[in-house]
Amino acid sequence: MKLHEDLEKVLISEEEIKRRVAEMGRQITEDYKDDPEPLVLVCILKGSVVFYADLLRAIDHDCRLDFMIVKSYGAGRESSGNVQFVKDLSESITGKHVLIVEDIIDSGLTLTFLRNNLITRGAKSLKICTLLDKPERRNPNSTITVDYRGFVIPNEFVVGYGLDYDEKYRNLPEVGVLKPEIYAD
Ligand code: PRP
Repeated sequence: MKLHEDLEKVLISEEEIKRRVAEMGRQITEDYKDDPEPLVLVCILKGSVVFYADLLRAIDHDCRLDFMIVKSYGAGRESSGNVQFVKDLSESITGKHVLIVEDIIDSGLTLTFLRNNLITRGAKSLKICTLLDKPERRNPNSTITVDYRGFVIPNEFVVGYGLDYDEKYRNLPEVGVLKPEIYAD
């Protein structure tokens, strides 16, 4: 069975993603160029893993890699901001430049919690990078500012390039909208 056949449409092609990720990498390289200290890239698993792996290779700076798994409890697909750490960072970020790398920002509540938590650990700087942003869905309680944004997308259910539906479709190379019959059961 072909994964592509479950898509209603491709929202962002593989080529468009590639071009944009290269631009984002150049921008990040430029922004940190006057500070020789390492930049800690924090991957929020699982969705970010594909974007993260491409982005870090587009950054020409001394980077350190670290990973977190968080779980946000809420009703259905709504995130609640009630976030639990399943896996925390493996290194201290005190005094470090930190860039959080996400695949998508929806309500913004996961990152609001995460950002507030990481700030208390004394990072030298803390920025947020996301491939996709759905500003229409932002919760009024979200306090985050996005520093690097790949694409603003409409309020549609997207999968691919790391994003899943029920853990499926993460390995699609593009971002697409699922046929409604796939998730309407
Ligand atoms: C997604 C995404 C963010 C969060 C964004 O993760 O990677 O972490 O949801 O939602 P919010 O802005 O409404 O808080 P998800 O919980 O789907 O886990 P996954 O990355 O393992 O797929």
